[in-house]
Amino acid sequence: MGRFIIEGGNTLKGEIEISGSKNSALPILASTVLLKGVSVINNCPQISDVFKMIEILRILGCEVEFSKGTVVIDSTNADCCEIPSCISEKMRSSVVFMGAVLGRFNEVITGYPGGCEIGERPIDFHIKAFSKMGVDFEENGCYIRGFGNCFLGTDINLDFPSVGATENIMILGAVSKGITTIYNAAKEPEIVDLQNFLNKAGAKITGGGTDTIYIEGVKELFGTEYNIQRDRIEAGTFMCAVAATGGKAFLKYAKAEDMRQTVLRLSETGCIIKEYNDGIYIKRENILKPVNIIRTEPYPGFPTDMQPQIMSVLTLAKGTSIIIETVFESRFKHILELCKMGADISFNERTAVIKGVPKLKGGFVNCRDLRGGASLIIAGLSASGRTFVDNSVYVERGYENIVEKICLLGGCIKLQK
Ligand code: EPZ
Repeated sequence: MGRFIIEGGNTLKGEIEISGSKNSALPILASTVLLKGVSVINNCPQISDVFKMIEILRILGCEVEFSKGTVVIDSTNADCCEIPSCISEKMRSSVVFMGAVLGRFNEVITGYPGGCEIGERPIDFHIKAFSKMGVDFEENGCYIRGFGNCFLGTDINLDFPSVGATENIMILGAVSKGITTIYNAAKEPEIVDLQNFLNKAGAKITGGGTDTIYIEGVKELFGTEYNIQRDRIEAGTFMCAVAATGGKAFLKYAKAEDMRQTVLRLSETGCIIKEYNDGIYIKRENILKPVNIIRTEPYPGFPTDMQPQIMSVLTLAKGTSIIIETVFESRFKHILELCKMGADISFNERTAVIKGVPKLKGGFVNCRDLRGGASLIIAGLSASGRTFVDNSVYVERGYENIVEKICLLGGCIKLQK
């Protein structure tokens, strides 16, 4: 499963380029099934989640080439509407293929995307919305089949601003008859990226980034070229690494306006952050200050995907901080691992109280999920001594060239396969 080996204690210094956004790439790649002809997707991160999406595209009959960050997809001859459960159960994001496959074939068969390390992650919002759009479903315990002759635009009011459900409805709504309006839609920047991509392919979608999205269905969508936005969570992760080690770095292409809460909270810890058109500069040289309370919330609130990483920073602050995780029900798996390194954290299911300590010490820890793994790498970089972070595959799902980038900044890390 791979192991990171980290020699802690170096401050991070220098400049790195932020990669394309994983959480933009996945829904955009899925939606290419719907587009007749060839699509060219640039700035696609070379990470295992993207490789899995490409595997599914090929199973559906698309021809796909991926080199140097550009994915070329020809979906002209796509002819299969079934996503094998052996893949869908391993990858939650496969659920976002449903809208595209239904829109292309009027049918989709998929294994349950299943829960994952951070929670149960049901798909009831997706099913409820699709049913209202005219999709019929049958289930046999392992597989779920959606089908229908004609899908109709309608009003969808989401119980929760679910990112994946918003994306799925946008994709199917783009080729449904009439107007689909999504109320209480997710507002993440990745929603805007998907809207921009689909509109370039001929869709008529407005309101992305607000809580109400309007989609006027069209007959067909066509392959197009698109540059994916940069990854705000990767950028935030490296900002936390610099905050924890006490260094300074320039994160090229990071967009501060899409990371306002991350920037504000790290500024509260005493980091100096400067925003430029082409990136973000961050420096931390004084004592880290605690942050009173951080509650994770849907965008534009503090992102749940940044919760483990900022927790690593706060383990070193001079005082007590509180983090409340409101989005996922089991996203604290990194806490016991951080405590093995000397962190002083008490917690229940949703709330963690972090009492800062002067230094963490290297040790043997385990990744339990993607962002939790990133938090352990951050802790290892700041700790004294050597840290072994097992199950590196979790981190490789979502961070392109993370070892090379950390080494470029002067960190001491290697990956033992
Ligand atoms: C997306 O997941 C992201 N993944 C997640 O990033 C991110 O944490 C999450 O949005 C929230 O921002 C991708 O974009 C590929 P949700 P998604 O639907 O769409 C519940 C990472 O680290 N829910 O907004 O699956 C759900 O259980 C990953 O990059 C239902 O109850 O998230 C959760 O508690 C992790 N029923 C909450 O809503 C549903 O039908 C938010 O889920 C759907 C969701």
